[in-house]
Amino acid sequence: MGALLEVRNLKYRTEEGKEILKGVNLDVKEGEIHVLLGPNGAGKSTLANLIAGAGGYEEPTEGEIIFDGKVINGKPLYERAKMGLTIAFQEPARFEGITVEEYLKLSARNNPDADIEECLRKVGLDPCHYLHRFVDDSLSGGERKRIELASIMCMKPKLAVLDEIDSGIDFVSIDEIGNLFKTMRDEGTTLLVITHRENIANIADRASLLCDGQIVETGDPRKIIKKFEKECLVCEVQNPSLVKEVKVQNN
Ligand SMILES: Nc1ncnc2c1ncn2[C@@H]1O[C@H](COP(=O)(O)OP(=O)(O)OP(=O)(O)O)[C@@H](O)[C@H]1O
Ligand SMILES: [Mg+2]
Repeated sequence: MGALLEVRNLKYRTEEGKEILKGVNLDVKEGEIHVLLGPNGAGKSTLANLIAGAGGYEEPTEGEIIFDGKVINGKPLYERAKMGLTIAFQEPARFEGITVEEYLKLSARNNPDADIEECLRKVGLDPCHYLHRFVDDSLSGGERKRIELASIMCMKPKLAVLDEIDSGIDFVSIDEIGNLFKTMRDEGTTLLVITHRENIANIADRASLLCDGQIVETGDPRKIIKKFEKECLVCEVQNPSLVKEVKVQNN
């Protein structure tokens, strides 16, 4: 299968001149689960936001984002969503006065086959208890993440970028989330999954490692996980304080 998403030499500099992405190249093939690994601050969320065209991230400093054969740089989030590209943010928003049911119906508006209650059950939430709750601060962080995942299942986009959707969700459910990702893939959604968890990365078809604003390697997930654990977690560029601790321990 060809690439559904192509990121070409993507650079992003903040207004203050800080270089966050330094020429990212990444292909996400149609029908795959592609995991993006990288230490805190590597630029994963920045890349995710640029791919989705989130507020303030519509236009990269340089480079191209090609989705489904079309250059999408500069297009706002809602236009990319209409094309079938969706993001789950690392910190999903809360909405005053909107119930879970209304929120999921909105997500499902272009997918007449969506079964809202079933999507909730699949993420481990009982529809009886959650359909009429509000998507506001009364939900816990983990509940909000689960609802976001249900929303994406209701939407069934061509490509979903999931930015740490598993963080804040109990470890016991992690294998279930992995299985959900596989179901979503098998039902036609290509996934770009940002995670810090090895057992999620393990279920990927391919993985990429982002380090200091660049993709350093793409390939077999097991190989990328090893590289991440061996090289990134003790890397001076990303974790100077951690490296200091490791050195102190070694002395
Ligand atoms: N608007 C901004 N102005 C200045 N620096 C920024 C801005 N946005 C992000 N950064 C910095 O850019 C770097 C990359 O941030 P980003 O959120 O993309 O990292 P990440 O890989 O998603 O990290 P994490 O694993 O912690 O979520 C960080 O050092 C962050 O502090
Ligand atoms: Mg992030």
